[in-house]
Amino acid sequence: LKFLVDLLRVNIASTYSHLRFLQGIIEKAKVKGIPIVIDADGLWLISQQPSLIQGYQRAILTPNYMEFSRLYEAMLRDPVDSNDHHGCVLRLSQAMGNLTIVQKGERDLISDGEKVLVCSHEGSSRRCGGQGDLLSGSLGVLAHWAFLAGPEKTNGQNPFLVAAFGACSLTRQCNNQAFQKFGRSMTASDMVSEVGTAFNKLFET
Ligand SMILES: *[C@@H]1O[C@H](CO)[C@@H](O)[C@H](O)[C@H]1NC(C)=O
Repeated sequence: LKFLVDLLRVNIASTYSHLRFLQGIIEKAKVKGIPIVIDADGLWLISQQPSLIQGYQRAILTPNYMEFSRLYEAMLRDPVDSNDHHGCVLRLSQAMGNLTIVQKGERDLISDGEKVLVCSHEGSSRRCGGQGDLLSGSLGVLAHWAFLAGPEKTNGQNPFLVAAFGACSLTRQCNNQAFQKFGRSMTASDMVSEVGTAFNKLFET
């Protein structure tokens, strides 16, 4: 979906039809029960039309702080409480019908309406453009794996919560490794080059 969104974003003139197309993809995914990761423009669509995804527990939303605030205000009719980030992520997930929310930030906060996980795996002080794409892309893969594996393989935990924690850790590990090599000039492509070794380091040892 993220790929499609990026592809479609190229054609700025057709914003309206691209959102209609996106809406069609989401509706089809729901009918077929396919897990779906929604980022960027998809989140804007959801904030305008929450019922499109509300209650679909196979959806994972990956808002940054701005996107999170927009969604939160749309759903809870209240500004975000900056003293209670955990509670806000939990409440937004519940208001959306317990789908998985990943709030990206200095620390990533992940909730399925029941639990809140914090991913503060060491990255670096730099966050580069495109890092969110690495997160949503790897999350798509891990969510698929975790969903197919079933709850026995994830120790009874919600597979989407486990996948989200894994993808956040992986993205941060890639950031850490790329930063060690390239410092302030690191780009998202440098992070992508680290996926293989980061994955081994985190999950194969
Ligand atoms: C969401 O999860 C909470 C906590 O487990 C539960 O109390 C609530 O009933 C759930 N809501 C839905 C719509 O499943």
